[in-house]
Amino acid sequence: MSQTPAQTTSPSSASIPRPEHPRPDSQPSHIPRHRWIMVGAGGMAGNWIRNHFAPYRDRAEIVAIVDVDPAALERSGDFLGLPQERRFIRMEDAFAAAASLEADCCGVAVPPRFHRPAVELAAARGLHVLSEKPIADTWDDAVAIYHAAGRAGIKMQVMQNYRYTPRIQTLKRALDGGRLGQIRYVVARFAADYRQPLSWGAAFRHEMRHAILIEGSIHHFDQIRHLSGADCEQIAGWEWNPGAPSFQGECLTLYTMRLSGGVHAQYEGSGLAAGWQNSWHGEYYRVECEGGAVVLDRDHVVRVQEHERGQGLRLWEVPPVSLEHEGHRAVVGQFLDWLDGGPAPATTIDDNLESTAMLFGAIEASARSRVVNVAAMLDQARGAV
Ligand SMILES: NC(=O)c1ccc[n+]([C@@H]2O[C@H](COP(=O)([O-])OP(=O)(O)OC[C@H]3O[C@@H](n4cnc5c(N)ncnc54)[C@H](O)[C@@H]3O)[C@@H](O)[C@H]2O)c1
Repeated sequence: MSQTPAQTTSPSSASIPRPEHPRPDSQPSHIPRHRWIMVGAGGMAGNWIRNHFAPYRDRAEIVAIVDVDPAALERSGDFLGLPQERRFIRMEDAFAAAASLEADCCGVAVPPRFHRPAVELAAARGLHVLSEKPIADTWDDAVAIYHAAGRAGIKMQVMQNYRYTPRIQTLKRALDGGRLGQIRYVVARFAADYRQPLSWGAAFRHEMRHAILIEGSIHHFDQIRHLSGADCEQIAGWEWNPGAPSFQGECLTLYTMRLSGGVHAQYEGSGLAAGWQNSWHGEYYRVECEGGAVVLDRDHVVRVQEHERGQGLRLWEVPPVSLEHEGHRAVVGQFLDWLDGGPAPATTIDDNLESTAMLFGAIEASARSRVVNVAAMLDQARGAV
């Protein structure tokens, strides 16, 4: 089979949908200034405080912070100019003060095993929650959080910032344009060289069980759902540690998934990548469709491949999308819009339970060496009181 040289053209603009989650067409004339309790003050929480809230200071004020690390508490407390009595070591004390602080919402950005107590404390006081991924580090806790939020009637969104980057929105635009027809399957690859001890940011990632799945793959499983527009029904595969000294938990994963609507997916996740790197924001995605394939690699260029027998391969690059706010900032904006009467965002707790079920289905599939029925896990979880 001969392949003609690559041609680079643009798709017709008529086939390009609007980017997802535009701001509501009509913002309320009075936008309230929300009062946040921030659970976590260092690590990713420090980024929330210093960077991700920056565009929204007129809409949301962080009125209290919590961190078990006094140094993190001091750094972020000083940055925000918070008085000492609004800097808490224990989240229980911060939430006990919620009424006097007139707090109406909170952010949760502490390690996953502490998400459940934070959300349950917030829900008990009717505070809306924006939480870092994953919902929790066990399926039982994730389901408990889902029900706590539902019973309390609070709005809860999960931080799936990787959906809202220009490279991914450009890929999504190509898929949604309709030109390539139905999606057949998605191939996703995350590969990062964390062979050095502590090279993956915080120590807990090198010490925990299921490290790549819980701390990494949740982003990629969620992205597979986002790109395909389909939910996972079954998952099979394995996670393991080949004896790598930098991880106590599992750090290699290979999985195959059957999604709704006849779509399938394959996922490779490695924390021991000794070759080609597809690390954070450089993940590899290939979406095989009825009329062509779309590929995104670490150079961030979205390329469409269209093959015609006898004619060869036509390649074109999708013009990159630009976004007003990206990643975390985009999600914080969606959450505030939702609180202010705008549309529910894509990554509500209800939606995100689907991605989380893939994660814990993957753990079980590996532990039992069998295909796990993710749809049944979700039915059971949603039905449980
Ligand atoms: N969305 C993303 O791109 C992204 C990237 C990195 C981390 N995360 C997520 O952010 C969360 C935090 O991860 P991290 O890397 O910042 O972790 P980290 O270990 O750096 O912890 C963050 C902060 O939480 C504090 N903390 C720990 N336990 C606490 C507790 N019980 N109560 C109050 N404070 C506590 C720590 O002292 C630290 O200051 C995790 O859910 C992680 O998955 C998300």
